[in-house]
Amino acid sequence: MSGGARHLYVHLPFCAHRCGYCDFVTLVGRNDQHEAYVEALLTELELERELLAASVETVFLGGGTPTFTAPAALARLLSSLPVAAEVTVEANPETVTPALATFLRDARIDRVSLGAQSFRPHLLAVLERVAQPDTIRRAFHHLRDAGFDNISLDLIYGIPGQSASDLEADLDDALALGPEHLSCYELEAKPGTRFTHAHGPELARQADAMETYFEVVVQRLTDAGYRWYETANFCRTPERARGRDLRSRHNLAYWRGRDYLGIGIGAVSTIEGRRWRNSPRLAAYVGALACRQRPPREHELLTEETRQREHVMLGLRLDEPFELAGYADALDEAALDRLAALGLADFARAPVGKAARIALTPRGRRLGGGVTAELLA
Ligand SMILES: C[S@@+](CC[C@H](N)C(=O)[O-])C[C@H]1O[C@@H](n2cnc3c(N)ncnc32)[C@H](O)[C@@H]1O
Ligand code: SF4
Repeated sequence: MSGGARHLYVHLPFCAHRCGYCDFVTLVGRNDQHEAYVEALLTELELERELLAASVETVFLGGGTPTFTAPAALARLLSSLPVAAEVTVEANPETVTPALATFLRDARIDRVSLGAQSFRPHLLAVLERVAQPDTIRRAFHHLRDAGFDNISLDLIYGIPGQSASDLEADLDDALALGPEHLSCYELEAKPGTRFTHAHGPELARQADAMETYFEVVVQRLTDAGYRWYETANFCRTPERARGRDLRSRHNLAYWRGRDYLGIGIGAVSTIEGRRWRNSPRLAAYVGALACRQRPPREHELLTEETRQREHVMLGLRLDEPFELAGYADALDEAALDRLAALGLADFARAPVGKAARIALTPRGRRLGGGVTAELLA
């Protein structure tokens, strides 16, 4: 892509405590290092500024718990980031006070992604979450009171001890808050972790129920008037949102295969066929940037074939048609016809002057990755 990346990801790794299921790059506490980390982030941004477009479309502050970052350091970071049409921050409910909500609003954040995970106390306990159901509700109302009109809630399903009725109740509780957007993820438990060890047989039972849970999520949220625009993501339809398009613009950029710059420990960037991942080690990251050196990184050169396959896999997660022009080599034409005949994909052959397009049908999308894998040559 010419003109630079239009999407910036900023990783803020600090958390008050570590939840058992979490596999993200996180660090507990380290309050005395937040300022130095933000300094390093801003140096990395300065070193890579030319990779970004003059006009940035989205900024996403993810974690970790961005809202756990020391207030002065967070304020400094937010005032130094490029202006963008969409600026999202991930927040943990227990960190959201009226003062924090107002501070985020004043700092030009326009979208908050609140990590609810569940509203059932016994499931929050299994996940080792700090927030109770009322903490989540209070946080949501503080954000609304501060003027946020684009709030997303994260839910997880397939939690040890969860039943189908627990999931239905979680969806009801989330919907009762009237969020603009919902992300609903299957719990991923990494083999070999303490969490997996503690919940092994129950995780296996949950894995067997995952397909049914996914059905329940899609059905309940679409019935409630949400658009199922990506495998795990839902937003209010424009009719229920005064015409606004409430899809996450930042995540849409990933699913559409756009270039993005990621800064911070463990952050990934993909720009013009090159991908790199920063070291997840705080000391190495801060140390290098204190000397105005790029942090240690793993580099990967993406072949055209890899790029094409990634674009197809990500693009077919969306509910919009995927333009096939330029992707002929990545796709198995016979599989396209087969899946269309089975009612799993809609395949529009190219009318004159237009590219052929493909989209999975709702049934194809429910089957997900397996259908996409079949399509790839
Ligand atoms: C990067 S995490 C950070 C969010 C925030 N710190 C929190 O805990 O709410 C973003 C989201 O990823 C999801 N997530 C994290 N670990 C997961 C796992 N092991 N399986 C499925 N989803 C997970 C959660 O829904 C979480 O809200
Ligand atoms: S608060 Fe969020 S990022 Fe931190 S350990 Fe828990 S799930 Fe992971």
